[in-house]
Amino acid sequence: MHMKVGVVADKPTPPWSVRQIMLALEELGANAFYIRPSNIASIIGDPYSIIFTNTLKPVDIDAVVLRDLGVATTVEMFLRRVDLFRHIELEGIPVINPIESFITARDKYMSLCLLSKAGIPVPKTIVLEDFYAATKIAEEFSRAVIKPLIGSLGLGVLKVENPDLAYTISKTLAQIKQPIYVQEYIEKPNRDIRVLVIGDEIVAAYYRIQPTPGNWKTNIFQGAIAQPIERLDEELKEYSFRVLETLKLHYAGIDFGESKNGYIVFEVNAAPQWRGIQKITGINPAKNLAKFVIRMKKR
Ligand SMILES: Nc1ncnc2c1ncn2[C@@H]1O[C@H](COP(=O)(O)OP(=O)(O)O)[C@@H](O)[C@H]1O
Ligand SMILES: [Mg+2]
Repeated sequence: MHMKVGVVADKPTPPWSVRQIMLALEELGANAFYIRPSNIASIIGDPYSIIFTNTLKPVDIDAVVLRDLGVATTVEMFLRRVDLFRHIELEGIPVINPIESFITARDKYMSLCLLSKAGIPVPKTIVLEDFYAATKIAEEFSRAVIKPLIGSLGLGVLKVENPDLAYTISKTLAQIKQPIYVQEYIEKPNRDIRVLVIGDEIVAAYYRIQPTPGNWKTNIFQGAIAQPIERLDEELKEYSFRVLETLKLHYAGIDFGESKNGYIVFEVNAAPQWRGIQKITGINPAKNLAKFVIRMKKR
């Protein structure tokens, strides 16, 4: 019997990374299905607990690769989507990454909190709702970064060096009912380090070099260029595996900064992109991920 794997995102058509994962799964003899949370109905108390909304057929899968929950616009919609994957896990179907870990990683507050408790260096960060206090804190940091609690691609990540700017940003966030996430700005070279770990394997490690002077964000999306690291030092390897273990993730892309006091983790991505590195190295992380998923189900 072929193993059946659902790959989850919420775009009308599967995004590039989802297609790569589906192709890799098919190459290994599995059947891959694209699943959108908005097209799933959950039945409480029925043996076929999860069905497709459009066909009313059971979702017959052995494992799930969760890439994107979609943009949930209300707390209720967010909870429903989280619960859908909790429900799938309750059916004994593994979700990769597990829903609780996926949520924790997306949440820059709790993920950094857990990493810090585990002794992994992270930037000093304060999360609050009071814009006046946020302004004071940003001023004390002298150079601060204000980030969305949930975000990616470097979008909405702001460097704040001026108290008036801190005030206006914080106040605006408070007015649109967003928490304020203020972080010390870490002096670093014009690059950071992305480590992609799948299970017990470091699949790729590369500098993300920002060639534009003055642009301090090193996301590929922000114009940074990937440059493979030939030999990753032991400390980074050890940190990477500890991050995975601490956040209970099966795979992740970890962003490390090189601060004057050593490595520091900016954030952890539970559904990392890898297009940039795939283009220049020919490494196809989707293959490693597909192998991991298939091996996991066999255990
Ligand atoms: N505290 C910080 N100090 C210096 N640079 C930072 C800091 N936080 C983020 N950055 C830079 O901004 C980029 C994006 O921030 P990150 O926290 O990874 O958010 P995103 O989820 O949008 O990628 C990082 O890759 C890093 O280059
Ligand atoms: Mg990042």
